[in-house]
Amino acid sequence: MTSILILNGPNLNLLGTRQPEVYGTTTLADIEAQCTEAAQTLGLDIAFAQSNSEGALVDMIHDARGTHDGLILNAGAYTHTSIALMDAISSAEIPTVELHLSNIHAREEFRHTSYIAKVAVGVICGFGAHGYTLALHAMARHLEDGR
Ligand code: DQA
Repeated sequence: MTSILILNGPNLNLLGTRQPEVYGTTTLADIEAQCTEAAQTLGLDIAFAQSNSEGALVDMIHDARGTHDGLILNAGAYTHTSIALMDAISSAEIPTVELHLSNIHAREEFRHTSYIAKVAVGVICGFGAHGYTLALHAMARHLEDGR
């Protein structure tokens, strides 16, 4: 069965209480449950993980090679700074959807830059927690027919 790794970066463990006016009140556990349900509908296997550490995220992307068919990555603030995560995706050669709860382009200037977008198949942002379901649908389609 096609397997997707859904990886979450720094501070996303605090979803639910972290700046709810920006990120909503849905917790990361709620999002994982929502992803599990969407994956069942799509006939996908998923693994769901979070780390606050850049190195741990790099390691998980390396390990995804040969284990998972696709990566959905909300890299949090590392999106805007991490050449290491960009290089990990290129090195692992794994199709990646970049994801954000908020619309990073409607926020501060420093959030408009994304190192992940340079190596991603596509980007989903601004749809809150529902973006995870959208990303799973986009990844399923991409793995099926390359679009
Ligand atoms: C975020 C957007 C980032 O700019 C921010 O640093 C986050 C969350 C989002 O999901 O909207 O931590 O990735």
